[in-house]
Amino acid sequence: MTTENIQQRITELRSNLEEHNYRYYILSQPVITDQEFDQLMKELERLEAGNPDFFDPNSPTQRVGSDLNKEFEQVRHQYPMLSLSNSYSEEELRDFDQKIRKLTDQSFEYICELKFDGTSVSLRYRNGVLEKAITRGDGTFGDDVTANVRTIRSIPLKLKGAGFPEEFEIRGEILLPFSEFDRINQEREEEGEQLFANVRNAASGTLKSQKSSVVAERKLDAYFYYLLGENLPSDGHLENMMATREWGFKISPDTERCANIDEVIDFIRKWNLKRFDLPVATDGIVIKVNSLSLQQYLGSTAKSPRWAIAFKYKAEQLSTILQSVSYQVGRTGAVTPVANLEPVLLAGTTVKRATLHNSDIIKNLDLHFGDTVFVEKGGEIIPKIVGVDTASRHPMAQPVQFIRNCPECGTILVRKEGEAAHYCPSEDGCPPQIKGKMEHFISRKAMNIDGLGSETIDLLYNEGLIRNIADIYDLQKEQISRLERLGDKSAERILYSLSESRQIPFEKVLFALGIRFVGETVARILAHRLINIETIEKASLEELTAVDEIGGRIAESVQAYFSNPENIRLIERLKEKGLQMELDETSIANRSEKLGGLSIIISGTFEKNSRDDLKKMIEQNGGKNVSSISGNTSYLLAGNNIGPSKLEKAKKLNIPIISEDDFLKMID
Ligand code: IVH
Repeated sequence: MTTENIQQRITELRSNLEEHNYRYYILSQPVITDQEFDQLMKELERLEAGNPDFFDPNSPTQRVGSDLNKEFEQVRHQYPMLSLSNSYSEEELRDFDQKIRKLTDQSFEYICELKFDGTSVSLRYRNGVLEKAITRGDGTFGDDVTANVRTIRSIPLKLKGAGFPEEFEIRGEILLPFSEFDRINQEREEEGEQLFANVRNAASGTLKSQKSSVVAERKLDAYFYYLLGENLPSDGHLENMMATREWGFKISPDTERCANIDEVIDFIRKWNLKRFDLPVATDGIVIKVNSLSLQQYLGSTAKSPRWAIAFKYKAEQLSTILQSVSYQVGRTGAVTPVANLEPVLLAGTTVKRATLHNSDIIKNLDLHFGDTVFVEKGGEIIPKIVGVDTASRHPMAQPVQFIRNCPECGTILVRKEGEAAHYCPSEDGCPPQIKGKMEHFISRKAMNIDGLGSETIDLLYNEGLIRNIADIYDLQKEQISRLERLGDKSAERILYSLSESRQIPFEKVLFALGIRFVGETVARILAHRLINIETIEKASLEELTAVDEIGGRIAESVQAYFSNPENIRLIERLKEKGLQMELDETSIANRSEKLGGLSIIISGTFEKNSRDDLKKMIEQNGGKNVSSISGNTSYLLAGNNIGPSKLEKAKKLNIPIISEDDFLKMID
């Protein structure tokens, strides 16, 4: 193919793929199969890889994101991002309407929209191309999340059609559909990671993720509701939104025009329950004056516009009977009380259980068995008990007493000072804690054992085949393959992965052991400073705390771990199995004290190394990687797109700023 032909084909593929993306993510009307789509994408990827001159950050191939760590730059909003005043009753809405009517004699219309419950974002387009995506932040400054937003399939990188202003901003809500939320939480549970409490946290957490590839995986969605700029197509808000739909933005189909406040109230009543049928979360309705000139005339207060108001639905509440209380022991040994309720239908789902969090909540509610309780389901997945109808309590009702012994292993529970939760202290004798340790050991960030998940660990444990992490390496093929839902193939995969895990570097093995307070970073630092497991085992408190960033709490926990003979035996067995218990030779050879005593802060993005690699290099060379600037910081290692506030602070404190190349020279 000639260069011209290649360029032509690339352009053609890009615009075809964009159109298919639009049909799939915005219209939900795909005209080709996923397989055909993948084929076109692969062809484009191949052509782009072979012809880097034609690189375009807006190409559909760029929606997969990257793994490069990146700090978010703070950017000033061109127009401040105001919030909305809230209302909770029809009366408050009539007041809002009256206030406007006092300010104008003009007749006007309202637009009613769903109030999406996610995280808001402002997008800037220039000449039909996405230029910047900024979070709300404090309303004046927000974080530049452009790289992450580019991965969201329903956000157009290049606009369709014509008639859009040369430059404009559009605002909307980034959302995580319920189905994705469930999928991600299930995955997190299997990985032993903390679950997202609600879709809003999950959406904002994802949008602020340091890896755009994670954002790409999570299938965020976005609805838009506000267009800003000069030379907009119309004086009507709704008419403008209809125009933006033609340009490729996702606009809710459930927006309606209302002639007066009575029609607004009808709209609100209509959506009270219907909103639970939507694939995404909503927490109310937004009512806006349609005419932009009237909006301008009405103006805003410092916080919110006078031309719009939010109506928030009350979290639905119902009463039911408390039948019993059960107690769940988590992987860390924390005990959570759960109320078992007479089933009731609430916000579209049947509620049978509610969390009681801890013993204080039970005490504060003065909960008795058989009580009539009020349950509420807000944004959280698990409903909660918000009150008790003491008047209808049976005179002989027994108060709920928090248990004294672990329901799993019988050990007496403890409650540390200042902590709300009760714990089972029997780390090595309590089944959920033992299983939790094994799940941590096999997880992706630790030994990364492919094919073994929490369910399989459960099965193996219940069958009595494994009692600790070393037992996992003694498993035989037949023992695994005859388990329910597993077979020869799965067994082979697990055994292969176990055998491969002997190559996993020492720092990860150390992390995998699950020593309290020894997370990924601490494990890496300990491994690089003390080199092998014997030195760590024998290290005194002073020797441990002499290592940068290892404080007394971590040092004590490390010592406690190694003073338990069970753990020493475990490590011996793992060593016999061939696991790495020492830093690898190249890491040892590369160790130096060239940065000894220096504290270095990393900021921005780098061309030659990822931020993780740079961190490792600092530690390998005896330096300390710090996360905030102070007078004690030795250097600011600055990449591209470094945050202006950091740069300013470094200059003020006279901290030398070095580039990636300067740094590489320092460590030779
Ligand atoms: S309009 C100045 N419309 O609610 C008015 N906001 O409580 C700009 N939100 O920050 C906002 N759905 O994150 C508008 N249909 C909708 C909305 C909506 C959700 C969010 C948005 C805003 C917050 C205000």
